[in-house]
Parts: sequence; C-alpha cells; structure tokens
Amino acid sequence: MLYGRSAEISALYEVITRARDGFGGAVVLRGEAGTGKTALLDAAAARGGAMRVLRTTGVESESDLAFAALHQVLWPATGSLDALPEPQRAAVRAALGLAVGGAGDRFLLGAGVLSLLAEAATPDGLICVIDDFQWVDRASADALLFAARRLATERIAMLLAVRADAPVRGVPLTVDVRGLPESAAAELLESRHGVG
Ligand SMILES: Nc1ncnc2c1ncn2[C@@H]1O[C@H](COP(=O)(O)OP(=O)(O)OP(=O)(O)O)[C@@H](O)[C@H]1O
Ligand SMILES: [Mg+2]
Repeated sequence: MLYGRSAEISALYEVITRARDGFGGAVVLRGEAGTGKTALLDAAAARGGAMRVLRTTGVESESDLAFAALHQVLWPATGSLDALPEPQRAAVRAALGLAVGGAGDRFLLGAGVLSLLAEAATPDGLICVIDDFQWVDRASADALLFAARRLATERIAMLLAVRADAPVRGVPLTVDVRGLPESAAAELLESRHGVG
C-alpha cells in the first residue's frame, strides 16, 4: 500500500497505457534515497495487466562491469534473439557473453537492444524497469538509453529510477519524487508503527 502518491502513479500509469496502445516512451523517477522510487516502480509495474515486465537494478559493486545491467534485463528475453537481423544479433550476443567479440559496435548494440525489447513486447506490450540507474554500468546505460529514445512506435514503457543528481541523458519526461506530504507520512507511520 502506497500513501500519498496518486499523482506520481498516474504519471507512470499514463506512460504505461500509452505504451500498451502503441505509443511507447520512457520516464525517469528522480529523488533522494528512500523517497519511494522503488516502491513506485513496483506499484506501476503491477498495473500493466498482461504486459510483460523486464527488470534490472543497478548495483554499486557492478557499476564498472560492462553490460552487467543489460545482462540482467535482457536475459529472460534471449529466446527471441533469432528474430533479430544478424548484425544486431551478433552485437547483443557478444554483449551478453553468448559469443566472443566483446563490446563491438555501439550502434549495432543499441539497435539490437531495441529490437530485442520490441520482440519481448509481443504480444501484450512490455514494461522495462531500470532501478538505481545511477549504478548502471556505462555500457548498459548507453545501450538502454539509445533504445529509450526510440520507443515512440513500440509497445514499450521504460521506467527508470535514479538518485537525485545523477544524469539520465536524453529522456525528457521526469517525475520528481519528493518527501511525502505530511498527512500521507502520518498515515504511513500509523500503519507501520501505530503512531500518528
Ligand atoms: N508512499 C509510500 N507509502 C508507503 N510506503 C512507502 C512509500 N514510499 C516509500 N515507502 C517505503 O519506504 C521504504 C523506502 O522506499 P524505497 O525503497 O522505494 O525508496 P527509494 O527511493 O527506492 O530509495 P533508494 O534511492 O535508496 O533506492 C520502503 O520500505 C518502501 O516500501
Ligand atoms: Mg530504490
């Protein structure tokens, strides 16, 4: 149960419903530690109905490990790799450690990530959740943001959460997650600790 977040949930839900209708897009949740970004991502992702959910979380200890986050988000979708054009398939397979080749061509990887997400969005649409973006390794971030900027005709909603000051380049739609309003904070305290 989330208290006092109806505006934020509505903003995320709008991105999700538009994506389900074929007008995909990305949105960034931005806020200080503990303000409720992950809780909002969970609540929004649960509202997608039949839409598939793919998810990754940046981890500080893996932020220098190229493709760590990409591996986590795409691994459940690798069964669709055969649908990709060969150059894109080769780039994604190399990034995910399924073939030798290393980092390769950044354009082909970005295009391949978009193609694979589009495959994963069949038939009911896709919610792609990227939490703790500030710790997503640079190589994964580049490829995911390349895809994020090209979702307009896909049935894909990309929801990103990031700590306050970290940059997320090229995703114009941002929802600021501030501290809860006093009344909602009191309700939350009451529910957790019986005080209010
Ligand atoms: N609106 C809310 N109503 C009820 N519980 C909430 C609400 N917002 C946050 N919480 C709870 O507060 C705690 C912190 O929230 P959360 O983990 O989502 O913060 P965060 O912004 O993701 O923090 P971080 O930047 O450290 O990842 C969690 O236990 C979460 O369930
Ligand atoms: Mg969090």
